[in-house]
Parts: sequence; C-alpha cells; structure tokens
Amino acid sequence: MKIAIVGSGYVGLVSGVCLAHIGHQVICVDNNLDKIKTLKKGQLPIYEPGLLELMHEGVRKKRLTFSSSIGEATRKSQVIFLAVPTPPKPNGDADLTYVENVARQIAQHMDAYKLIVEKSTVPAETGKKIRRTIHLNLAKKFKNGSKLLLDFDVASNPEFLKEGTAVHDFMNPDRIVIGVESKQAEQLLKEIYKPLKPKILVTNIASAEMIKHASNSFLATKISFINATAQICDRVGADVLKVAEGMGLDKRIGRQFLDAGVGYGGSCFPKDVDAFIRVSEKSGYDFSLLKEVRRVNENQRHWFVRLVEEKIWNIKDKTIGVLGLAFKPNTDDIRNASALEIIHLLQAEEAKIRVFDPQAMGNARKILKDVVFCENAYAVAEGCDCLLLLTEWPEFKELDFGQIRDVMQQTVIFDGRNFLDGGHLRNIGFDYYGAGRGKSL
Ligand code: UGA
Repeated sequence: MKIAIVGSGYVGLVSGVCLAHIGHQVICVDNNLDKIKTLKKGQLPIYEPGLLELMHEGVRKKRLTFSSSIGEATRKSQVIFLAVPTPPKPNGDADLTYVENVARQIAQHMDAYKLIVEKSTVPAETGKKIRRTIHLNLAKKFKNGSKLLLDFDVASNPEFLKEGTAVHDFMNPDRIVIGVESKQAEQLLKEIYKPLKPKILVTNIASAEMIKHASNSFLATKISFINATAQICDRVGADVLKVAEGMGLDKRIGRQFLDAGVGYGGSCFPKDVDAFIRVSEKSGYDFSLLKEVRRVNENQRHWFVRLVEEKIWNIKDKTIGVLGLAFKPNTDDIRNASALEIIHLLQAEEAKIRVFDPQAMGNARKILKDVVFCENAYAVAEGCDCLLLLTEWPEFKELDFGQIRDVMQQTVIFDGRNFLDGGHLRNIGFDYYGAGRGKSL
C-alpha cells in the first residue's frame, strides 16, 4: 500500500518506519527541513530504542523515503495519515491549526481518491471538521460550488504506542481502533494492519476519537489514584508497593499504571487530560473527576519538595543531586517531566542543583539554567546534601551506592519512583525515603 505520514514526530516517525517494516511503501513528511535533512542522512531526531535499525532497513529496501512536500506525498499515496502536533492552547483546548493546514494542503494536491486518517490525538468531531475543510477546498479548486468531482474518506485511527517502547508497542498492539464512515476506508485500514494480525475494533469516527481521550485520561486517573493512596500510606504506615501489588492481583484492576511517585509527565497525559476536560466542558458536562486527577498530579511534585525540606531542613544553599530528567526511562523526552518542575521549585528556594540523565542531557541543556550538568551519577553525588531519583533508568539500579555515599556531604536519598532497594540503602547508611512507603522498610 502507498502511504504518506504527515508529521515526523514520535508517533509519525515510529508509525512510518514500522509500516515500511511490514511491507508498505511509506513517505514520511515534515515541514521542518532540518528534521528531513537529518532523516535523509540516516539519523534520528529523537532517541527511541530499536527505531534506527528499522529506519535503515526501510531505506535500504527502498520502502521508506522522507520529504518536506505534502503535495508530492499526496500525489504518490492512497492513504495519508495525519500525525501532526496538537499542542495545548492556554485554555487547555487542543490547537488544531496544524491539522487544518495539512487537510487544506492535501485537498489542494489531491488528484484521485484518498483516505485521510487522523492519528494525532484530537477532540471528538475533528474528523467532521477535516472532512468539511477538504470538501470546501476541493469545491474551490474545481470551481464547481459544492459538487465533488473527487471522492475521499476521512477516518480516525488513534495510536496507543508509548515512548521508550514505541516500536514494540506498534508491532504488538493490544488493539487497533478504526473509526470509519465507509466500507472502502475500513477495508483499506484493515489491509494496512493485516500483517500485524491485530484485534481490530471498527467504530464511527467520534467513538474512535473518544476512545483515545478516554484511554489516556483513564490511565492518568489510575496514576493519580495510586498517588493519592500513597499519601495515606505514608501517614498510616502502609507500603504502597504492597498495596499496588494486592490491588493489581485483581484482574479487573491490573497492576500496570499503579506506580506511585512524583506523578505523570510527558507530551501526552498532561495535555490530553486538559483537552478532555475542555471537550467535556464544551459538551456541557463538568468532568470534575478529571480536574481532581490533574490536581493530585500537580500536588505530588509539591509534596515531594516539602518532603525534601522536612528531612534536610532548609533548602536554601543546599546542594541537591538529581538522577534522571526524562519524563520516563528509555527516552530523551523531557516535555512536562516531573524532574524539571521539581528542579524549578527547588531553585526557587535557592538550592544548588547537579544533574545527570543517560539520554536527556542535550534536551535539558536547552531548558535548565544554573544547574551543574555532570557526566555520570557519581559526579552528581559529589558534595551533595541529598540525592533525588526522578526517572527510573534501569542503570541507576546498578550503581555502586557505597561509592556514592562516600562522596556525599549528607547521605539522604529521596526515591521519587520507588525504584531503588531502600532496605539495602538503609543498611549501608543512607536515610532513604520513597513515596508512600510508610514505616515499612
Ligand atoms: C502514553 C500512553 O501510555 C500511550 O498509550 C499513548 O499512546 C501515549 O501516551 C500517547 O498518547 O501518545 P507515554 O506518554 O509515552 O504514553 O508514556 P507512559 O508510559 O504512559 O507514561 C506517562 C507518564 O506516566 C510518565 O511520566 C510515567 O513516569 C508516568 N507513570 C506511568 C507513573 O507515574 N506511574 C505509572 O504507574 C505509570
């Protein structure tokens, strides 16, 4: 199948590379010329495990190309996926300007039947608006009032991949959701995904759009639920790890997304929860549950800073080491990372900050001011009054904490992800504090 993916960010690039891997002819498009140059040189603008190898394979087998021209991509493809950004506006609404612009350009260059598929996370009814934009532009192009000479379909096919495991998630989906208005669109999308032998759910476009919003918001709700529970665990002497384990054994609940800590971040959950709150408001429903999910998440970062203050006394002039900056492990993405907000809160109280992250240092240098960037975790620890573990990179588990202890000023560790072996750390002389671990360690 000849496919174009407009937008070469995380979702677009992973989708494009993986669709080429399963046998399709794919053009990845982006209006950022530097990004296209980088891709044409065989390099990736992002860090995502396993993606580079598959990209090279696609290029070698001549199934994957890169372009900055929506016109070229539209003419050469039958199916066009939209994976452009939908950033939040100040009021939380998703900004759909990119989606509209791309839809308009596709209409201008269409020369035969096309299936236009939204992959970006968009509010319900965006499909309708894309359809109308294309309709209006086609009518103008052929100067024939509203009578259409070219047939096209719009569909919704939300993506559920996670950064850090994106390639694996794409190739092994729990489900593929297809929101369509015609049999032709349904068949084309089923054909595209056939090699993955997935469980496919076919529905209308609005339901597909809602499934994506509701799924991300539900996962965020799970995280805020366990974080609120962790607050109580701390007060009553329970261990949230055991509580999550016990809850997770119930198949109806499941253990995933019950890891308490410094809260969720990234480019999706914060933005999507905000957008879903706005979608609900506009539809006339006050989704106050989701507002509370957001509040609990924000509170976790403030709670963590207060915990640090309680245990090391004054924050002013203390040297604080931070291990992990990315919003989660196995990515270099720091968008809405809990680590960044915690660092800003500590800097507001005049702490001196030292940081290390295995992949996110480049991105962090563009944003963090007045911090010492260290070459590894041992260098971070030098002279510190305490260490904060804010991203659970597997390699942090392998650190020699005896060596770290010996170079610190005060041996206090705050584990914002409940990731380290607290019992061992206490045995070798650390004051160890997790989130919701009570007095159970
Ligand atoms: C999320 C969804 O999981 C994907 O299904 C979805 O496709 C994607 O958003 C998207 O909309 O594009 P992602 O943002 O890559 O994926 O990352 P997650 O693994 O979901 O983690 C999000 C945040 O929640 C991270 O900051 C992570 O540390 C935090 N988290 C996750 C917790 O604090 N506790 C948990 O138990 C799980």
